[in-house]
Amino acid sequence: MKDRTFSTRRNWGMAALAWSAILTMPAAGRAAAAAQPATFAKDIAPILQEKCQECHRKGSMAPMSLVTYEETRPWAKSIRQRVITRQMPPWHIDPTVGVRQFKNDMSLSDEQIQKIVQWADAGAPFGNAKEMPPPKQWPDADEWKAAKELGQPDLVISSEPYTMAAHHQDVWWRPLSNIPITEPRWVRAVEMRPGTLAGRRITHHAVTYLVQDDPNSIIPGTDADLRGRAMLMEWAVGKGYDLYRPDTGKLLLPGSQISWDIHIHAVGDEIRDHVELGIWLYPKGQEPKYRTYLTAFQAIKGRDRQRQMDIPPNTIMESQNFTVLKQAAILENFQPHMHLRGKAMAVEAILPDGSTQMVSYVGKFNFNWMTNYIYADDAAPAFPKGTMIRVTAWYDNTRANPNNPDPDQWVGFGDRTVDEMGHAWMNVTYISDADYNAWAAKHGKAPLTSELRAR
Ligand code: HEC
Repeated sequence: MKDRTFSTRRNWGMAALAWSAILTMPAAGRAAAAAQPATFAKDIAPILQEKCQECHRKGSMAPMSLVTYEETRPWAKSIRQRVITRQMPPWHIDPTVGVRQFKNDMSLSDEQIQKIVQWADAGAPFGNAKEMPPPKQWPDADEWKAAKELGQPDLVISSEPYTMAAHHQDVWWRPLSNIPITEPRWVRAVEMRPGTLAGRRITHHAVTYLVQDDPNSIIPGTDADLRGRAMLMEWAVGKGYDLYRPDTGKLLLPGSQISWDIHIHAVGDEIRDHVELGIWLYPKGQEPKYRTYLTAFQAIKGRDRQRQMDIPPNTIMESQNFTVLKQAAILENFQPHMHLRGKAMAVEAILPDGSTQMVSYVGKFNFNWMTNYIYADDAAPAFPKGTMIRVTAWYDNTRANPNNPDPDQWVGFGDRTVDEMGHAWMNVTYISDADYNAWAAKHGKAPLTSELRAR
């Protein structure tokens, strides 16, 4: 097993090499670029439309618009730096290991990064106006994105509004809302959005949890590590909606509430806004075959509030923990959760046959971006009963971490952002052994034999 861990680490090193390869493009590539420099009109505007303007346009959350040449030109150097280091777009998962296809991928391709670098290095030329693509049309702010596919939501729930001062520290706003249902209903899709255009500027991200007395929201027979609040949805700018795969859903019970966790930041103007949650239900009486459970796979040993965590000042620390899957399961997404000292997180699966598989690795965790990486349907990995999920988290309590408020502090476990925690949020869909074997046959994996099951 040691060897495997080692080779995984080497793979991460390879990722770094791949990026430096882009920076030190072969001479031939550079010559071609010089002969035909990338221009804003032909090469850059389409990339900005596809990957940046969702956030970088007037009325959206980013600090500046990247729509016209005049708006973009002054940022060329900063854009070059942010895209080379893969800080922008905020997609920080390592694309060279583990699951590689996502439903909500907003990252740039190597080719797109190369074009941006060429363009910036050539002095950010405009090019030929005839080659400018027509401006991208954005849907009305008050239109649900899922409406095209699913019609209007069955329920719309609003958070209590919050007034953010022009200048203020970040706020985590956590109100409660009732869910107006009188009988149990199954959720098919959810979408969240700030209530107003102005609200988009201050709403960094929002998470909704389901608060209800529901013993089945905990997998029977699992240990405390698998307990977790049922999360309905996470939203950050750029995100669409969550439509669960066919025959899969989440259950709402009468009397249940939504608990909001809304990260709001000040932008220089006082803004008051709320967040809205649209819910699409399965028809009355229709019960999907599978249920997904949002699970916090811990990276820290111990139980609940007593988790052991002790990060000395000016150090980088690692924590690791294991959770056994007591039933075959599909992992649907990965959202690393740490606080201000968070640096990196890896999720690996150790299968009953002893082999280890990387599931996901985020090497550039940034506390400001709680990105949720949603696996593409065909790429979401399934694991047999008895698989161990190993989560490793790294924390940087040194000056090198730009988010670190004070590297001279000892840091322990806790809820405040100056305390630490470490877990991987994953939606887990439990399936039968027969379903697992069907998945394994389709994906060229060994079936779960009775011999393995007996281990
Ligand atoms: C999901 C929303 C989102 C997307 C998509 C996005 N950005 Fe950003 N960007 C932001 C926000 C918010 C900030 C300010 C906070 C920060 O720096 O993290 C920012 C900051 C930046 C900055 C630094 C600005 C400064 O003040 O120095 C640059 C440059 C940038 N983005 C370029 C891009 C480019 C280029 C793309 C597309 C390839 C892109 N961004 C895609 C939201 C986004």
